[in-house]
Amino acid sequence: MNAEAVYPPSAGFSRRAHVGDLEQYRDLYRRAEENPEQFWGELAQSELFWFEPFSSVLEWHPPNVKWFTGGKTNLAYNCLDRHLNTPRAAKTAILWEGEPGDQRAVSYQELHRLVSRFANVLKARGLKAGDRAIIYMPMVPEAAVAMLACARLGVTHSVVFGGFSSEALKARIEDLGARVVITADGGWRRGKPVALKTAVDEAIQSLDVADVIVLRRTGGAVRMKPGRDHWWHDLEADAGDVCPAEPLDSEHPLFVLYTSGTTGKPKGILHTTAGYALHTTLTMKWVFDLREEDVYWCTADVGWVTGHSYVVYGPLSAGATTLMYEGAPDYPGFDRWWSIVERHRVSILYTSPTAIRALLRQGDQWPDSHDLASLRLLGSVGEPINPAAWEWYHRTIGKGRCPIVDTWWQTETGAILISPLPGATPAKPGSATLPLPGVIPAVVDFHGKPVPRGEKGFLVIQRPWPGMLRTILNDPARYESQYWQRIPGAYFTGDAARQDEDGYFWILGRVDDAINVSGHRLSTMEVESALVRHPLVAEAAVVGKPDEITGQAVCAFVTLKNVDRDHRDLGAELRQWVTHEIGAFARPAEVRFADALPKTRSGKIMRRLLREIVTSHSVTGDVTTLEDMAVVSRLAAQHDDEA
Ligand code: WT7
Repeated sequence: MNAEAVYPPSAGFSRRAHVGDLEQYRDLYRRAEENPEQFWGELAQSELFWFEPFSSVLEWHPPNVKWFTGGKTNLAYNCLDRHLNTPRAAKTAILWEGEPGDQRAVSYQELHRLVSRFANVLKARGLKAGDRAIIYMPMVPEAAVAMLACARLGVTHSVVFGGFSSEALKARIEDLGARVVITADGGWRRGKPVALKTAVDEAIQSLDVADVIVLRRTGGAVRMKPGRDHWWHDLEADAGDVCPAEPLDSEHPLFVLYTSGTTGKPKGILHTTAGYALHTTLTMKWVFDLREEDVYWCTADVGWVTGHSYVVYGPLSAGATTLMYEGAPDYPGFDRWWSIVERHRVSILYTSPTAIRALLRQGDQWPDSHDLASLRLLGSVGEPINPAAWEWYHRTIGKGRCPIVDTWWQTETGAILISPLPGATPAKPGSATLPLPGVIPAVVDFHGKPVPRGEKGFLVIQRPWPGMLRTILNDPARYESQYWQRIPGAYFTGDAARQDEDGYFWILGRVDDAINVSGHRLSTMEVESALVRHPLVAEAAVVGKPDEITGQAVCAFVTLKNVDRDHRDLGAELRQWVTHEIGAFARPAEVRFADALPKTRSGKIMRRLLREIVTSHSVTGDVTTLEDMAVVSRLAAQHDDEA
């Protein structure tokens, strides 16, 4: 071990974890590496329910993969039905708290009934396996019900985060080819209703959407278009309680989730059934060491992959009590989360470094005024966690008792790939530590050659794993070029990393033009495309600017078509414009106006220089390809004027 702080695993665990020590981890890892098909095949049999057994474990014809072919299963069955003839039937599946303080505890039995009824609603609208539905909902149990009802029938869903604008929603409905949109009047956020149905109305004006199903949540005014729009409760009132889960092929498309790519157009990441089910279920045990009596809380919204894998599918398939909270962490006070932990006796808490930093900043009096003794394990995801935030999380929230699992993964990976196992892996703050069994990552150069330990390189994954994406919807060529042709023979993650002398992985951030704002991947190109759609914008370049809370913040450089216009208010207007085009979470923290943007002789915007301007306020390094050096000095000078 080296000089960095190292924390022993499971200091506060009263009994042995699922993976009990480092030796057991190493043994599992070796077995998976030596015979992956046997390893995954055995686990698929023991961890999942099958209507029909699979005949082959893995068919790998790069870049196309099939897991567990010949098998028939259903993820909703695994999340619900299989628990019913066990003591889990009466156990709370979803423990929910609305922002206004309303609460619900939905048992597995009851959730099974709700999902079956809503699946019957979808069936009655003509939906069947292979059809597609959009889910655009607040964090209420019905969001999970809608997802599970789709999964039960084999309807491929795409959940769109409620913070996305109508424009972004429209693009997703179109790309998915959805016939149905499931939404709500709105949701509660910081004491105010946030409208969702009105965004749906705008999004589908010119689209051919057959049905919109609307849950009543806030009671806000909505317009209902006769024939197209239906209240959830009206349709549900006529639905029966019985709806058997459809036996689906292992590779049946489960969901599509859109994420930012390196162009302006989001990529529809496709995940399928059995491999994803196995990977999410297993990691609940390996990484979260889930126990029957745990109250497990992942704070992510269901609109992101973390919400899919670790609020809904993984926890329910593993039989957990999964807590869902609707609103803001700071409403009505900065102790809302700590009050939830205390009142519901939360034992596992999984959140993001951004949230940790934001709450840390409010001071220890907020967590200190609550009893957090129920916590036994903490998790982090979304970006590297800086050691100061790690230490605070460990000491002030975990009281030094709780291991922290820093979980590295992506929308594309479906579930966690690199993480400490809480009973086995000594932690080093800031490192995601070691790969899970069956996962073979490496840090390599452009040619796919491993770089020496301690050196920076590209993080790649050298073998397929069950939860991996299968393609980009409607764009298989982009799937191949983005993930499988960058580095010979490996999956390209888009992250830079280094491995230390203990083999621990340290993630250093994205190597593409993606930036990470509050743990959400955002494409700079996507924000640029939004900006240049504004009638006054000629060109835009977006870079990430370091931010104490959100990790990075959006900083936009803009040139205007009409240079004479007084642009004093235009900054605010453009920020609002991005909110309208994408959503508030993509709104630039800063808009800077320039006469021209720095470009290479071939006309490419040199974002590297702009990054340097926003980070160090000056430009170093090679600028010999710059077309006009004066442009850069003007941009740097502009900052000094403002400062
Ligand atoms: C990117 C994926 C799937 C989780 C939510 C984000 C960064 C994620 C970590 C971590 C360092 C991390 C990477 C990755 N990232 N987790 N524990 N340590 N970086 O999903 O939007 O698909 O973004 O988030 O850069 O590539 P996403």
